[in-house]
Amino acid sequence: MNREDFYILKNGIIYFDNGATTLKPYILAESISDYYNNYSANAHRGDYDISLKVDSLYENTRDLVKKLINAKKSSQIVFTNNATDALNKIIFGYFKYNLNKNDEVLITKSEHASNILPWFLLANEIGIKVNYIKLNENHEVTLENVKKAINNNTKVISIAHITNVVGDVRPIKEIIEYAHTKNIKVIIDGSQSVPHKKIDVNDLDMDFLAFSAHKMCGPTGVGVLYVKEDYMNDIKPIIVGGGMNSTFEYDGTYEYNEMPQLLEAGTPNIAGVIGFGSVLNYLNKIGISNIEKYEKDLKKYAISKLKTIPNIIIYNEKSESGIITFNMEGIFPQDLAIYLNKYNICVRAGNHCAKILKDELGIKNTCRMSLYFYNTKEEIDKLYNVLSNPNIINEII
Ligand code: ALA
Repeated sequence: MNREDFYILKNGIIYFDNGATTLKPYILAESISDYYNNYSANAHRGDYDISLKVDSLYENTRDLVKKLINAKKSSQIVFTNNATDALNKIIFGYFKYNLNKNDEVLITKSEHASNILPWFLLANEIGIKVNYIKLNENHEVTLENVKKAINNNTKVISIAHITNVVGDVRPIKEIIEYAHTKNIKVIIDGSQSVPHKKIDVNDLDMDFLAFSAHKMCGPTGVGVLYVKEDYMNDIKPIIVGGGMNSTFEYDGTYEYNEMPQLLEAGTPNIAGVIGFGSVLNYLNKIGISNIEKYEKDLKKYAISKLKTIPNIIIYNEKSESGIITFNMEGIFPQDLAIYLNKYNICVRAGNHCAKILKDELGIKNTCRMSLYFYNTKEEIDKLYNVLSNPNIINEII
């Protein structure tokens, strides 16, 4: 779909690394270049035309994000640097002050580093405990295992909606519903889901959601944190400075602005946020549910082809997302990725920042292909042809 919007695809590249970052449609660079060339003023600080234009477009993106995830108010949407930054802002700006020694957070071994390391750090700082929800035989989270992992000390569950290696889609509606009956708050890392699925924070009764623009055709350096209204007055900024205060005096007294400015200290990535706005308009025209449907079909096709290759091991055949994680017997994953590169095929190899998933998968490194709406069945056929070459091992070793 829409391949003509991605100039990079004219080079014959087969890009299957969308879990790391997606390609960018030309309108993103056009919109960013328009800002820098024609109205490159700061945001929220000027009373002249080009600055007012910046304010209006910057806030327009916030409104588009609000609509994308069906938030009630645009003040619930904070622009961050990326999903990692969003998670850190909530873990150290809210949970640090609302958890006590021996309170427990539940995560899983398939979380990305950005949803594990902040908790380890908080555990060191205030003595909370980090526990793991057991994964089932397909490396998935089930509501039953969530219930089993909860005890009287559990105060927060922090999980990805879709994980970046196994690509399993977690039953977050049921998990959130159950967690709330026990007064447990839930943080959802939507990095691998918001770009691919319709997310409704109201319907899901979500407490906190983090995701990145660059995994949905947007710029790098822009992320989003969504906060439920109930908690908006209880968050403390972890970065303070310009743009987030209303007053301060020589004697050390000060007042901060309200959300979302409270968490947006300093000059933000204005060009990026405005560029993200153009991309959201673009994605809305395609339709997120059309993207989801298209990817599902593509994934099914990819699995049906790849599983016929002798010596391939697929770790997540049953997962519902566009992520396929595999190895070829006898070939080191990075060697395979380098070999695929000779054919202009981009996949990611390694542990994919999920460094403790090895305890569940029984293997440390894998190759990962991750799909987006501009991928095609013809591209999958090309990957299949390369991987099914009977001489592949001899050519690599
Ligand atoms: N989180 C990104 C990935 O999964 C970088 O590749």
